[in-house]
Amino acid sequence: MHELLKTQRIYDSSALQEWLLSLETKYAVGAAPEKYHRLVNFSANAAAPYHQWFKYREGFAGELIAELIALSGAQKGELIIDPFCGSGTTNVVAVLSGYNTLGLDVNPMSAFLTNTKVDRYDAQDFEEIRRFLSALRNFRGGAPRKSDREVCRYFQPDRFDELVRIRSFLDALPESRAGQLLRAAFVSIILDCSDRRRDGNGLKVSASRVEDTAAFFEEKAALMIEDIRRVRPCDGVRGFGLCDTACHLYQRYESCRDGRRAGAIIFSPPYANSFDYFESYKLELILGGFADGMTGIADLRRGAVRSFVGAQAQKACDPCIDLIAKEIEEAIPAKEARTGKKDGRTRKVPDMIRGYFSDMREVLRQCALCLNPGGKTYIVVDQSAYLGKIVPTDLLLAYLGEQEGFTVGRIVKCRNARTSTQQLNQYPYLKTTLRESIVELVRNE
Ligand SMILES: C[S@@+](CC[C@H](N)C(=O)[O-])C[C@H]1O[C@@H](n2cnc3c(N)ncnc32)[C@H](O)[C@@H]1O
Repeated sequence: MHELLKTQRIYDSSALQEWLLSLETKYAVGAAPEKYHRLVNFSANAAAPYHQWFKYREGFAGELIAELIALSGAQKGELIIDPFCGSGTTNVVAVLSGYNTLGLDVNPMSAFLTNTKVDRYDAQDFEEIRRFLSALRNFRGGAPRKSDREVCRYFQPDRFDELVRIRSFLDALPESRAGQLLRAAFVSIILDCSDRRRDGNGLKVSASRVEDTAAFFEEKAALMIEDIRRVRPCDGVRGFGLCDTACHLYQRYESCRDGRRAGAIIFSPPYANSFDYFESYKLELILGGFADGMTGIADLRRGAVRSFVGAQAQKACDPCIDLIAKEIEEAIPAKEARTGKKDGRTRKVPDMIRGYFSDMREVLRQCALCLNPGGKTYIVVDQSAYLGKIVPTDLLLAYLGEQEGFTVGRIVKCRNARTSTQQLNQYPYLKTTLRESIVELVRNE
């Protein structure tokens, strides 16, 4: 990006182009170790204990977290925090390697999965699961909830009925760790049982290959038990997965840290790329009983970082960030004149950018509150682009971090980031310039 900004005019505003070039120069963005290329995505988790329970496309690899924890210098027993925990990758690695951990996510399904993964189970729980599964085989009944109607069209009727039967059985169980584990197994099979797959910013048609829903559920539970038997959290460590916004991190940290210090904060936030996590996970949220239909999802969405165009618009923000928002705003009329069409979606992007960076600034403030001087935060993040204008999220988070009590340790590029083919065709420089990076922030004295 440094070379590009030096040699080619990307932004109409010369103040913006110069400012970004100065950030790029100041932070001296370097290259990450070769293997990070593979570790910034979830595929390396595909067969790893715990991580393999639920395929979380937007997740990073456990191996990356092990590396970052080691780099952070956190001491065993300290808390490793992930304020955007998703499927709990950071938290699982933490408890398996001797750290306490806290994960937050506004998606209640994510918080639940994380909490389930970092919990401790014993022989009694496995025995209870065995009994529950045998009772499930003879269980008949269970009626769909009203909100299930909003998602039943995504399933073949027999699979849908089976899912409702299993969920009704789980709903009737007394609260227990065994029941929690089985519910996590249930949530983890929903997408495979549907005629959809996650793709881009939502769900795409894809016929289910599951033949026997109940057997598939039992296989998932067996796989989870096998993982827990093989690999267990280290003695004496505790983990929490809580449903809350990262903007409440400090309060949550204080309430569960039990005198322990934050060793490091590691996360991958939503990117400023218009992606709506709640749309993507709606089947699990509704059938899993985490949200009361699309209205319930809309309520949850309001707590999310404003990385999607339906987010509440924000008009004012940091003046430098505003330069980017304005740059995109001013490029819209030319695009609309070229295509002859109003682009309602892109019109919302400038306010989304303002909202996104205001939210992320608050998250960085919260991170600084949790850490002692010298404590590190690692952020794994993609850049994005609109109308050929690069939104260099890594540089901008580093810049905001500096205002909230951090010094930038380093920024390393892990791999190229992707954008739509349409944008690539029109702005070929995006192909090699857009990047996915890791930003290291060090808490000031
Ligand atoms: C890139 S994903 C994290 C994936 C995670 N690193 C993993 O390996 O599974 C970002 C997560 O941020 C969550 N999120 C969005 N807004 C949030 C907020 N305000 N507070 C906490 N989590 C939020 C999303 O629900 C999503 O799970």
